[in-house]
Formats: sequence, structure tokens, C-alpha cells
Amino acid sequence: MSKMNELMARGTELLGSDHAILCGAMSWVSERHLVSAISNAGGFGVIACGAMTPALLDTEIAATKALATKPFGVNLITMHPQLFELIDVCAKHGVGHVVLAGGLPPKGSLEAIKASGAKVICFAPTLAMGKKLVRSGVDALVIEGMEAGGHIGPVSTSVLAQEILPTLADEVPVFVAGGIGRGEAIAAYLEMGASGVQLGTRFVCATESIAHPNFKKAFMRASAREAVASVQIDPRLPVIPVRALKNSGTEAFTAKQREVANKLDQGEIDMMEAQLEIEHYWAGALRRAVIDGDVENGSLMAGQSVGMVSEEESVAEIIATLVQQADAALHARG
Ligand SMILES: Cc1cc2nc3c(=O)[nH]c(=O)nc-3n(C[C@H](O)[C@H](O)[C@H](O)COP(=O)(O)O)c2cc1C
Repeated sequence: MSKMNELMARGTELLGSDHAILCGAMSWVSERHLVSAISNAGGFGVIACGAMTPALLDTEIAATKALATKPFGVNLITMHPQLFELIDVCAKHGVGHVVLAGGLPPKGSLEAIKASGAKVICFAPTLAMGKKLVRSGVDALVIEGMEAGGHIGPVSTSVLAQEILPTLADEVPVFVAGGIGRGEAIAAYLEMGASGVQLGTRFVCATESIAHPNFKKAFMRASAREAVASVQIDPRLPVIPVRALKNSGTEAFTAKQREVANKLDQGEIDMMEAQLEIEHYWAGALRRAVIDGDVENGSLMAGQSVGMVSEEESVAEIIATLVQQADAALHARG
């Protein structure tokens, strides 16, 4: 067994994959083709449910099962109004791993997932929240720093890793995400106690990814500093920042926030509806860029590791490169 896989043993055991390298769920990108390719190549693919209806998720899981020869997971957003129906769909298909993203799991959701026999993986934004989630019975945690693409928290991956791994890595497997583009970084987080890693940005330009060629080109051209976090313009409307490549869509988001804040002021919607409207906006804008190829007005969600994405390669090549780099780094240290 390679040194990397030795350090990943708890992660691979939990996931049932060859390597504890998850491809984090990416709305519109993480569908049947990329997810099955990741799992078949020895990583762990995760379907992004996003705003899908239960019927759509049902179809996507069935199609992924038909293509995948290895286990994969499903990522559900906690604020989805039909979360419990989505959990039932996962249970019906015997999905082995459910990742809950987008906030604290609502009451009864962990129990419902575990009752189906699936493992549940949650995001820990702070050490205190991580401890709480472990006490609630989660099987594993993801800690994701602000270098990541998509919705982000305020703390960097390196700081979260130092705060959380020494305390929680012995309790449950912890996967580190955000800003990982090369195997040397994987090696470093494993040495700090992580059981595996989660990458998103690095896999967007995989041959098997259905992202539009324009979307992939934008990634291959971009440097780290172009992947910027969105700015909240109204203190009354707390929006979760999103890291994306800067384009006209970035300004359109400012206008959208003003529009939603006005509706809040007029009493037309409440805070929950306001936040859902913002999230629907992102889902639509991301679809426009990923599927339609409108890279000017759509959302180009990307992490800072985008600067390390320079060509289209197969998932198997990307994983082999990451594994080789991680192993070389670990061996060099003796
Ligand atoms: C285009 C894009 C879409 C994403 N969509 C989601 C999502 O729907 N749900 C989620 O939990 N995370 C989402 N993420 C975050 C990824 O799952 C992953 O955690 C993140 O990309 C890891 O950091 P990295 O981009 O630095 O590799 C998205 C990321 C990107 C780049």
C-alpha cells in the first residue's frame, strides 16, 4: 500500500473507494458522467442535487448507478424545501453516502439518513460546530476553506485544518477541501490528520465533465487572483459569499441583491424567501455558464486553485497525477 493510501485508510474504508479523494458536488457539473467517472477511476464522486426535484434526483441517481461500478454519494442542500423527500429518494436507491451542505442539518434529517443505512457527511464551519455534529452522530466531516469555489465561509483552509484536525480527526474521518490543486497539498493535510480531501475546481475541466467548452476555457485561462468572493451590499440581507471568476455576472449579482433587499423592505417576502431567491439566482446563473456557455453573464464559480488548471485531461489522469504527487511528497520526507 502506498504511503498516501495508508494515511487515507479511514477515509477509503468509510467511502469504499480506492483513494479518499472526493470530487465535491458541483451544481450542474457533478451529474452522472463526471460522478461515475470519478468513482470508476478510484476517487469518490458526489451528485450535486442542488435545486433538483425529487423526481429529477431519482432519474440522476438511476443513471449514475447504470454508469458507476464503484460507490458514489449524493449532496443535498439543507435548505431545500423537499429535503426529506430527497432523503427518501436516496434511501430508495440504497445510496451509501449522503453529504449535507448549506447549513446545519434540520431536525430529524440525520436520523432519516442513518435509518436508511447510509453514512452521513456534514460540513463543519467551526470547531464548535464540528464537535456538535460529531455528538449528533455524523460519520465524517468536511472542512472547507474560503479558497474554494462556490459558496464559502470566511476562514482559510489552512487555519480550519489547524483548528479542527488536532481535536476531531481522531473522532471521525475529516476530509479537507478548498484550494487543493496538487498532491503535495493532499500529503500535507493527510500528515496533519485528515483522512482524505475534497476537490472541485481541479475536476471541472475533466474530459468527462459536461461543462460547456466556454466554461472550461475560462478556467484554463484564469489565474488564482481572478477567482473572487462576492460582496454583500446590504447589511440587512446576509448573503453567503460565492467565489467565482469575475465577469459581468458579478455586477448583475449586486443588482439582484438590491432587488431582493427592496422586496424585503416592502414586506413582500421574508428573510427565508429572500435567501432562497438569492440561491435560485445562483443556480440559474451557474446553469447559464456551465450548460449554455454564457461565460459573460452567467456565474463562473471557481476556487483559487483554478490557476493550476491548464488543460483538459481525463479524470483518471487527474487522479493519477494527484496520487503520484502526494506519494512523491510523502516519500521525500522519509
Ligand atoms: C462550479 C462549482 C459548483 C459548486 N457547487 C456546489 C454545490 O452545489 N454544493 C456544494 O456543497 N458544494 C459546491 N461546490 C463546492 C465543491 O463541492 C467543493 O467543495 C469545492 O469546489 C472544493 O474547493 P476547490 O474548488 O478549491 O477544489 C461547488 C464548487 C464549484 C467550483
